[in-house]
Amino acid sequence: MISGRGSNLQALLEAATRPGYPAEIGLVLSNVAEVEGLARAAAAGVETAVVPHRDFADRRSFEKVVSMRLEEAGCSLVAQAGFMRVVTPWFVARWRDRLINIHPSLLPAFPGLDTHARALAAGVRLHGCTVHFVRDEVDQGPIIGQAAVPVLPGDTPEALSRRVLAAEHRLYPRCLALVAAGRTRLDGERVLHDGGAEADAQLIVPAEG
Ligand code: GAR
Repeated sequence: MISGRGSNLQALLEAATRPGYPAEIGLVLSNVAEVEGLARAAAAGVETAVVPHRDFADRRSFEKVVSMRLEEAGCSLVAQAGFMRVVTPWFVARWRDRLINIHPSLLPAFPGLDTHARALAAGVRLHGCTVHFVRDEVDQGPIIGQAAVPVLPGDTPEALSRRVLAAEHRLYPRCLALVAAGRTRLDGERVLHDGGAEADAQLIVPAEG
């Protein structure tokens, strides 16, 4: 599920072409028409769907159509990659433990928008991104994996966001693979990894140069 640029989608599309990758991208669904992510999907020969949220009276009726399209495409796992709509508890329950998201911060720090500017304003020394199972609360849920990057002197939100995005592109395909291969288990609201998979879900990206 996407809403825009689709650079994380691109990383997943590329990963899915590698031999032995345990997931296949069956459908790329966007709530916004004509976004770059849809062109990326089409270029990779993957089926696309546009379900504009504005066409629906409420979130629930939008999500029912989204869910139907995902089911029709035979999806068993849903990855939100820059999907910028909050989903309702109905959608979360419908795809419980089969719905994952990437967020550009080390959750539970900085849920919501403008994470890079907020991280700089808070003076944190480490920032990063998180892949997690989606729960009712926005940008919360069992953590599958995280990548940490340093905050460097003189960083702007744009520079920091570029560093985090590069980490996102490495982290998301690994985390999706772990879930798709059944190598994650939930212990309450904590994710346990089977067979030493922790290393795949934890990246420390050193400073450049
Ligand atoms: C990514 O940084 C992703 O983590 C973020 O939107 C960007 C989408 O970029 N997602 C969220 O903020 C969700 N809360 P992309 O379309 O190039 O993958």
